[in-house]
Amino acid sequence: MAYLSTIDFFTDRNFLDRWQRTLRGELDLGWLHAKTEKLAATPENPRRGLTFRDLDQGAYGFTALPEVVRQNRSLAPRGAELPEGLPDLQPAVSHKSEVWAYNTEGYYEEAMTRQWNATLDVPWHELAKYELPDDISRAYAQLLTFLTEVEMIATDVPAQWLGRLNNEFTEVKNFMATQVMDEARHSEVFRKRALTTGYGLMKASPQNEWSLKLIRDSDSFAEMSLALHLVGEGFVLTLFRFSEYISPTELDKKIFRLVMQDEARHVGYGVQHLKWVMRHFPEKREVIHQHLDEVENMVFGGGYAVEVTEPFIILAGKGTKKENIEHGTRITALFQMKQIEEYFERLDKCGLQERRQRSKLHNALELTRASLQEAGVIP
Ligand SMILES: [Fe+2]
Ligand SMILES: [Fe+2]
Repeated sequence: MAYLSTIDFFTDRNFLDRWQRTLRGELDLGWLHAKTEKLAATPENPRRGLTFRDLDQGAYGFTALPEVVRQNRSLAPRGAELPEGLPDLQPAVSHKSEVWAYNTEGYYEEAMTRQWNATLDVPWHELAKYELPDDISRAYAQLLTFLTEVEMIATDVPAQWLGRLNNEFTEVKNFMATQVMDEARHSEVFRKRALTTGYGLMKASPQNEWSLKLIRDSDSFAEMSLALHLVGEGFVLTLFRFSEYISPTELDKKIFRLVMQDEARHVGYGVQHLKWVMRHFPEKREVIHQHLDEVENMVFGGGYAVEVTEPFIILAGKGTKKENIEHGTRITALFQMKQIEEYFERLDKCGLQERRQRSKLHNALELTRASLQEAGVIP
């Protein structure tokens, strides 16, 4: 059979003839006999509606997906008959273990029901009732600048991988599409808030950006997901929680609560993916440790750059006087220690309890904790 892509359909007699005969009522009806499973899915819980889990049946389901899905390299949806002549999209990722996570389908459904709107769901008009001191506004504008940078890479990276995943991974691709939308909304809300501070945007951070770029440059989806979902967004999730705590206004607390609900979902996928890999492919443990060695270096450099740590200190201490800075450094130190501890707790949940022993990040945490305790910054 000739490659369909090489046919000029306007002059091809077979095609023109077929089209005209069809419109005269001379039907082919070959598709009527598709060799596929017959299915009439129904919602298990009518209140929840028809979910991806309700469709998890036979060849349509995700449970039955084999580890390697190269039998379909086209746009054909999972479960359709695959006739000869489908295009080969050359997907870069066709191994289930590279992308799958417990509850992928659930994360997608949750994302769809919890979308919010940065234009309307934040009570922007209330900003008029707050008058913030100059140093707070400026520090906050800097924190928002940093957060916008972070959200931009979080939008780009899953978008870049979407078209490279095999189309058999429907639920993962849909989940990633919601993540792209979530992250676009995060960069939107931080940008909008920055431009209301009176200072606009402040200074970009080379150290942060070189670190973020490493996520984009990951060689494989599995590596990218470890760097983005598990490590990067895990750190960001703790950062959001503390940002809510030190937020200068109620409106800002609301912004952080909204972004946190999305971020928790992205980290949830990362954790459930690593858990899935550890359970099904324990032999990958060593290579995961090697990725983590690189990723921890990246997140440590970017996450604790001056352009984020210093505004955080000023916001936490509520000013730039000596006593403010003292108070602010204490809160920021406790927050950053907590941020690293929570990361290791996440790895514990995935079955990587031994990570602390070989991690330079853990070593840096212990050294810094001891030095701050000695200086009396933290108890
Ligand atoms: Fe985000
Ligand atoms: Fe995220």
